[in-house]
Amino acid sequence: MAAVIPQQQQQQQQQQPKPSWRGFSTTSQNTIKTEFPDRIEGPSVWDGKTLEKKPEEWIYHVTAEDIADIQRALKHFKESGVDLVDISAKDFPLTTFKSVVDNNKKELFSGRGFTLIRGFPILDYSREDQVAIFMGIGSYLGTRKVQNGKGHVLGHVKDLTYGSTTKSVYDPDEPTTRIYATRKAQPFHVDGTDVVALLCLNEGYEGGLSSVISSHTVYNRLQELRPDIVELLKEPWLWDRKGEHGPDEPPYISASPLTYYKNHLFTFWGPHFFETMTRFKDVKLDPRKFDAMKYIQELCEREALNMQLKVGDMQFVQNYQILHARGAYTDKPGATRHLLRLWFLVNGEEVGWEMPFGKGDYDYGYVAKKTVPLEAE
Ligand SMILES: [Fe+2]
Repeated sequence: MAAVIPQQQQQQQQQQPKPSWRGFSTTSQNTIKTEFPDRIEGPSVWDGKTLEKKPEEWIYHVTAEDIADIQRALKHFKESGVDLVDISAKDFPLTTFKSVVDNNKKELFSGRGFTLIRGFPILDYSREDQVAIFMGIGSYLGTRKVQNGKGHVLGHVKDLTYGSTTKSVYDPDEPTTRIYATRKAQPFHVDGTDVVALLCLNEGYEGGLSSVISSHTVYNRLQELRPDIVELLKEPWLWDRKGEHGPDEPPYISASPLTYYKNHLFTFWGPHFFETMTRFKDVKLDPRKFDAMKYIQELCEREALNMQLKVGDMQFVQNYQILHARGAYTDKPGATRHLLRLWFLVNGEEVGWEMPFGKGDYDYGYVAKKTVPLEAE
């Protein structure tokens, strides 16, 4: 991405101590004061509707050789006796498929920011093997991150609300219910990690369209259409932690949706985590921010790349430059939408994106134990 930032300012950025962006602080100091470029240029900027018509550009179809390689790695892992929660690249030794995973990672951080690997016969395997394959491949991307207050490093995107075809646990209208456990539409957002990966086990009955859009494209569009919103996005916003925090930690965090750091535009966006801030009666929220969210959602809906995930699909999304969304869906007994999800932290220097915040922030650090639940709970 080409962006013009004066050298003097770059030096200042390098000398500043790393602030706790996306950290647990509720102060406004999570904002780095820098000059933003007028436009973002380069491969991270793309047009969703153009790419939607060219799936051959962004879908990788696995080959028989890839499948054999993954199968060999799985066999090695199972013979090693290593616990699933500890699986690492050395326990899942890929050979030919490793170059696919390496290219995938390059695309995430130096290209479009999302990828899709299609055609792996995932239903031929037991649940434990499905999880080992997904976590094994994922080990090449980065370090797995805890995804919720329960310590899960493997997530299940599946309906667990009243009326579910399998297990009704949550009230879909309760503000602390995470949307991934509902059948509701999920507005454009980022996940609280560097990379999120999904593996589709069941497509469900109807709906559930998956959408991605480059937040760098969104930035450019807002600069043209609503520069006032860009200014608002540089300010700190408050985000609800949905009750998933330690006993002495604040129930919400403060972070700017846009941060420009060392020639990269970082996006942090979660409308559902802003909207439910209204449950804190003593917090004042700027009504312009609600208008901005609506405007951005509509812009994304018009311009995003939509895709229907198929069984066996592995989708990877780099959260600093991609917003993703999901349409509402319905299930039927036997057609219950089910995705496995992994969150990764990467080495910022290795991928060429030095992060503007200390690692380990927003990591549910208070959880006692990391777990790999084989079924949604
Ligand atoms: Fe998400």
